[in-house]
Amino acid sequence: MGSIGISTLRRLANIINEAIDEIEGVYAAADISLPSLDAPFNPANPTEALLQNPIVEGATLNIVAAASQLSAMVANPAVSALNASQAFHISACLRVASELNVVEVLREAGPAGLHAKEIAAPSKTDPLLLARILRLLATHNIFREVTPNVFANNRISSVLDKGKPSKVLFENRDERLTGTSGFAALLECSTDYNMKCVSMLADTMLDPKENELAFNRAYGTTGSFFDWTHRPENVYQMQRFDIAMRGAAALESTDAIHKGFNWSGLPTGSVLVDVGGGIGHVSLAIAQKNHGLRVVVQDLEDTIKDSKMYWKENLPSHVESRMVDFQGILLVPEDRQLTTIHILVHDFHTTQPILNAAVFMLRWIVHDWSDDRVVKILRHLRDAAQPTTKLVVIDKILESAARVPDSGEAIPRFGAPIGTGAAAA
Ligand SMILES: C[S@@+](CC[C@H](N)C(=O)[O-])C[C@H]1O[C@@H](n2cnc3c(N)ncnc32)[C@H](O)[C@@H]1O
Repeated sequence: MGSIGISTLRRLANIINEAIDEIEGVYAAADISLPSLDAPFNPANPTEALLQNPIVEGATLNIVAAASQLSAMVANPAVSALNASQAFHISACLRVASELNVVEVLREAGPAGLHAKEIAAPSKTDPLLLARILRLLATHNIFREVTPNVFANNRISSVLDKGKPSKVLFENRDERLTGTSGFAALLECSTDYNMKCVSMLADTMLDPKENELAFNRAYGTTGSFFDWTHRPENVYQMQRFDIAMRGAAALESTDAIHKGFNWSGLPTGSVLVDVGGGIGHVSLAIAQKNHGLRVVVQDLEDTIKDSKMYWKENLPSHVESRMVDFQGILLVPEDRQLTTIHILVHDFHTTQPILNAAVFMLRWIVHDWSDDRVVKILRHLRDAAQPTTKLVVIDKILESAARVPDSGEAIPRFGAPIGTGAAAA
């Protein structure tokens, strides 16, 4: 057994060594050095572009996977489990850094960095506590502790930069994220309500209630997350979510969308309905390559306003030729009284108004709702579908972590009798 363990360690080390050779080879051929972890990220630097080189990308994935397996093999398992159980500290500290505009304060300080007292001063927060928060992050390679309690940005921390002078960020807190890339907003959404919600995951599994998600338990509300963000007192949360969605859009490549479905096979004039489409960046990317496609973007009214702007900026020809239409819904939170009469143009929980769709596309919608709700959303689409209408669902799928070679056989369905080898029907 021991020798198997040692040889696995060596094999993992060899994978890492070979990957480093490959990366160094690509960089040496270009006569450029690798980006430094200590310096802020600069996307315009040619060294960053080389990271997209397919050889470098493949080698990077191998290093990350092998290094993680290597440390899991050699580290004390109790320490590994404990570290995993307390990883929430990193999320919480990251949110502090973003909300207190630490990255922007440190950008202005430059590579020499700044003492925690000065970093905490503009937000009037506790410098001792902030020093420990930044130290924890620096220990995880986010920020650099230059000398004790003096911190500077590094490659990882700098990607949170909202790109505005820190003075402006402190002067108008509500507008902090407006006009930014959306990355800081995305990170704040993850480390704020996403983290609070998932902390209730086990509770909702052990004591399930109909239509109750971890979000409802965490926020003590029966309505959906979107009902909650559309309350008048949560305007800031709603705007932050929308800015975050833009950030997520910029990060994601739309490549898979083009390859995953034969859009060009649809007859000219076919209607693609982007259900809960957000700003409609995915349907826009599809329309950019398939000019004959008519698009309908459906979402909540506030988001649809952004969507209209986004299309005007990025594909004005489709807007001018009326090949794109927008349908918004004014949301009335479930747990509120209807005080104004709203016209519900589209709500995916109710009847689908488009009856001639070639494709209904649901991207990143299914994961937001309980199974019961998803079934209802899908039923509304089926009721509005023609026999030829296609449903395209795009969401994250967690691949099996089983370390067996892919036999090519279908994975047995949940609920299929175990031990019969029954494949999915
Ligand atoms: C996770 S986002 C995904 C957005 C977009 N499909 C994308 O891929 O970026 C979920 C979207 O569902 C929208 N939404 C929530 N409730 C809705 C409803 N009842 N009817 C239509 N859209 C809704 C939200 O406003 C949000 O834009």
